[in-house]
Amino acid sequence: MDIIHPQVSDYLLDNCTPADEVLRDLAAETRKALPDQAPMQISQDEGAFLTMLVQLVGARQAVEVGVFTGYSAICIARGLPADGRLIACDVSEEWTSVARRYWDRADLTDRIDLRIAPAAETLRALPADPVIDFAFIDADKVNYLVYYEELVPRLRPGGLIVLDNVLREGRVLDLTFDEAPDVAMRQLNAAVVNDDRVDSVMLPVRDGVTLARKR
Ligand SMILES: C[S@@+](CC[C@H](N)C(=O)[O-])C[C@H]1O[C@@H](n2cnc3c(N)ncnc32)[C@H](O)[C@@H]1O
Repeated sequence: MDIIHPQVSDYLLDNCTPADEVLRDLAAETRKALPDQAPMQISQDEGAFLTMLVQLVGARQAVEVGVFTGYSAICIARGLPADGRLIACDVSEEWTSVARRYWDRADLTDRIDLRIAPAAETLRALPADPVIDFAFIDADKVNYLVYYEELVPRLRPGGLIVLDNVLREGRVLDLTFDEAPDVAMRQLNAAVVNDDRVDSVMLPVRDGVTLARKR
């Protein structure tokens, strides 16, 4: 299912802050070196959206679950102040080696703390204090709820969790799609909307993005 009509989708891309040279080169290298995985990378408009959300929240302490080649991490880190920190979680040394090169080029290496391990382990090891201002979840879909449950208690009031791919190209609407990630995403969406610790809104940004703000 096209969430947004393709013409509108192109128009949206043409009418937001454009990606700079670093992000354009990263997207091009990812497409060339990893053509099968490249669609996992967030788009230019979603990247601009993340930077703006980080700035609007006034975030200093951020967490990302699902780094891949580092595009969204650049967008998040750019919204942080110079002394802000992004803890970036992934399991792939190979893909994040590309990310490290581009973080260096973007002069963001000091702002990003890459943790290579299953994200559930990394999140569980974080201090329990509610000091996280902003989190972005874009990794293995079956574990989104695990990540969300680890992050919500650690989020400060007014802090924001952004969840990507919540529409799964429309598959969440059709119960005949019953693979594990489809079922998991339906469960997650129901859990978030019924969670009285947060206010939430689901937006048709690319593959669907939920914003959950801690009360
Ligand atoms: C959709 S991609 C992330 C795309 C990235 N946000 C971007 O803008 O390019 C998903 C990533 O999640 C990572 N991942 C999958 N399972 C994971 C796990 N259990 N813990 C941490 N990362 C995981 C994959 O290695 C992959 O890099």
